[in-house]
Amino acid sequence: MAFIRTLDIRAIEFFSGLGGWRYAMKGLGTVISAYDISEVANTAYRLNFGESPNTRELATVSLSEIRALNADAWLMSPPCQPFCRMGRGKGLMDARSAAFIHLMDLLIETRPQRLLLENVTGFFESDAFAMLAERLARIGLAWRCFNLCPTQFGVPNRRPRVFVAASASGVLNNRPPSIEPSPIFNYLDAAEDTDLYLSGDIIARHGAGLDIVTVESRRSACFIGGYGKRLVGAGSFLQTERGIRRFSPGEISRLLGYPPDFRFPPDLSLNNQYKLLGNGLNLVVAGWALGQLL
Ligand SMILES: C[S@@+](CC[C@H](N)C(=O)[O-])C[C@H]1O[C@@H](n2cnc3c(N)ncnc32)[C@H](O)[C@@H]1O
Repeated sequence: MAFIRTLDIRAIEFFSGLGGWRYAMKGLGTVISAYDISEVANTAYRLNFGESPNTRELATVSLSEIRALNADAWLMSPPCQPFCRMGRGKGLMDARSAAFIHLMDLLIETRPQRLLLENVTGFFESDAFAMLAERLARIGLAWRCFNLCPTQFGVPNRRPRVFVAASASGVLNNRPPSIEPSPIFNYLDAAEDTDLYLSGDIIARHGAGLDIVTVESRRSACFIGGYGKRLVGAGSFLQTERGIRRFSPGEISRLLGYPPDFRFPPDLSLNNQYKLLGNGLNLVVAGWALGQLL
């Protein structure tokens, strides 16, 4: 008889964005409450899940509020800029870490049974990681770190991230899979949006710096939040017979593992769609990391 794991997690999703953790949870439990300061993100979350996150600055959320939720798991992807080269890597000294520091204080008081955090790989060498490890030890959670990239899961897109998985019952030590990525054409829109093509002038000026892939490629670069505005270092561009174009938000959402019925609010600008996706999780990878929790 097959062994089916039923964790039945009751989770809080902090820094919820598009709800990547909620998508990734599948049958492992439910998100009982979500928090994000961005009304733009929360509008998209509400559209897809029918429930709104709390539009709040997490540095000001009270202990009594979190305690009252009676959650047994915390899921979070704090802002990555304090741990990125582009964000100058100031770690806990960065003002954007205030919410994380506050949550680390609430962690001691509320003692969830499980925690899963995702961030850029720079997080691993940061003072924030040292703080998290110390707090997890203090509340008696065993933890493991996983360095994961969608390319290991057969997805032709780089998005290297660290996942810290912690549980009072322990964490599995499975090896991530090693699946050959499939070609990009599996992820493309049936009808392409011709407005996404770059002008000849832009290609002449920036072409040499662009990361260009074809429909046959089995790789693409990490798409960041600024993909709609920046050209170099922000993600890949697709070479077709017609020219060179950006990937559409739909195509990026497929590479990130979002389901076919995932939608953006119709009036959301293209740049905001790219921003939300670029800040988000790869759902296949996040689901695997969740599956390591006992
Ligand atoms: C890296 S993204 C998380 C993305 C999310 N996991 C997803 O699946 O889309 C960080 C999110 O945290 C939110 N955020 C940043 N600082 C915050 C704060 N101080 N309080 C609440 N939310 C914050 C941002 O609006 C953003 O949506």
